Amino acid sequence: MAKLLIVDDEKIALKNLEHILKNEGYEIVTTQSGQNALKLVEEQFFDVVLSDLRMEKVDGMQILKRAKERHPDCEVIIITGCATLESAVDAMKLGAFHYISKPFKLDEVRRVVHEAQEKVRLKNENSLLREQIENFQGRVKIITQSQVMLDLLGTARQVAPTDCNVLISGESGTGKELFAKFIHHHSVRANGPLMAINCGAFQEDLLANELFGHEKGAFTGAESVKKGLIEMASGGTLFLDEVTEMSPTMQVKLLRVIQERELIRVGGTHALPVDVRFVAAANRDFHDAIGNGSFRQDLYFRLNVIGLHIPPLSDRKDDIALLAYFFVKKYSVLMKKEITEIGSDVLALLANYDFPGNVRELENIIERGVALSPGKSIEVAQLPEDLRELDIRTFRKKQGRIPTLEEQEGEYIKWVLTEVGWNRTLAAQILGIDRVSLWRKLKKMGLAEGE
Ligand SMILES: Nc1ncnc2c1ncn2[C@@H]1O[C@H](COP(=O)(O)OP(=O)(O)OP(=O)(O)O)[C@@H](O)[C@H]1O
Ligand SMILES: [Mg+2]
Repeated sequence: MAKLLIVDDEKIALKNLEHILKNEGYEIVTTQSGQNALKLVEEQFFDVVLSDLRMEKVDGMQILKRAKERHPDCEVIIITGCATLESAVDAMKLGAFHYISKPFKLDEVRRVVHEAQEKVRLKNENSLLREQIENFQGRVKIITQSQVMLDLLGTARQVAPTDCNVLISGESGTGKELFAKFIHHHSVRANGPLMAINCGAFQEDLLANELFGHEKGAFTGAESVKKGLIEMASGGTLFLDEVTEMSPTMQVKLLRVIQERELIRVGGTHALPVDVRFVAAANRDFHDAIGNGSFRQDLYFRLNVIGLHIPPLSDRKDDIALLAYFFVKKYSVLMKKEITEIGSDVLALLANYDFPGNVRELENIIERGVALSPGKSIEVAQLPEDLRELDIRTFRKKQGRIPTLEEQEGEYIKWVLTEVGWNRTLAAQILGIDRVSLWRKLKKMGLAEGE
């Protein structure tokens, strides 16, 4: 529950504010004395302080200053009966969240207090996330707070010390390679080599040569013995990435290595013992690949002693902000910048995005944001264009075209009208134009019937 301090030397105004906000679910403390308010902000933490500006002895500005000094995370709203632009500007300069003038509208008070409290909540949430990241130890950092992933990590940690082969599946960029490294580092083979090969990147002959090596004179140009990756990974782990891309012949050869625990180099005749743990990965659906005959079921069973399926990022939204902060830290250090924050609208946009490229895409977005940000935080302006367009609260392209001022104005007028239940007098007042001008604009938009 958010804690709220209300300060006003006028008893009636104070009661009134307390009454308005009591039903919003805040824990409320009130005081009529500015001096007492200073003492309260010294001693306690309030999420939001709502204070009258003009009071005897101690005024709102002093309370604002003290509150911000003691607790920079709290937000202060200043209320005043004598609204002058200067005092508003001064209050904002001193870090006030907002400025409300008397006589205040009930809705305005509720809204502004709610927004201030929301800002404090987000700040708290962010600092919790940051702590988690800073506390994370270990060589391979798999950052997550989603239950599915925590379970997967638990399984990975459990099977790591065994010599079981592991098959990791998941969309591109979900962290398959990261898991492979994690398993290696947590295994008894951690001090042995970790070798990796992308099975989709080689033609059959080349892949055989890479994996099994060759004897001297195996083919023209084979002038000396070459050890393959399986041999080189001896005592360690071999990561077979995109394993579903292997040709049928290679699959048979690999199956034989796993079953017999021995290999024959290309052009060789005698078998060499193999001491390797295999971790394989693919982003294709194994069941499809097996179903259409492109991947051998027996090889699948040999590799899939333990299967780990990593869910796409869009299925674990609670990881988005956490990872985003992790990458902000990583790239701020790399780029020698001091960026520590992510704008709350940026976080909202990221939460609504479906990340076809998963964590890798999020990492690229943040890397770019850190590079472009001129200040201490990443803001919407530093996001790629297609992501920015997701924002329903800012401007949007229509059918790929940027709207004209008139169209944008029309949209805005319609929005204001719906907000006030089509009360045109009120809408005109909010828009800062007179009723006749509003009527003209509505007529132009074809919305003035009945006038
Ligand atoms: N949970 C995570 N915590 C921290 N970094 C992560 C996490 N998941 C992924 N990454 C990072 O995202 C990037 C992509 O991860 P990785 O290379 O492991 O994905 P992949 O599943 O192997 O992708 P592909 O199928 O395209 O090869 C890497 O830079 C990795 O460090
Ligand atoms: Mg990969």
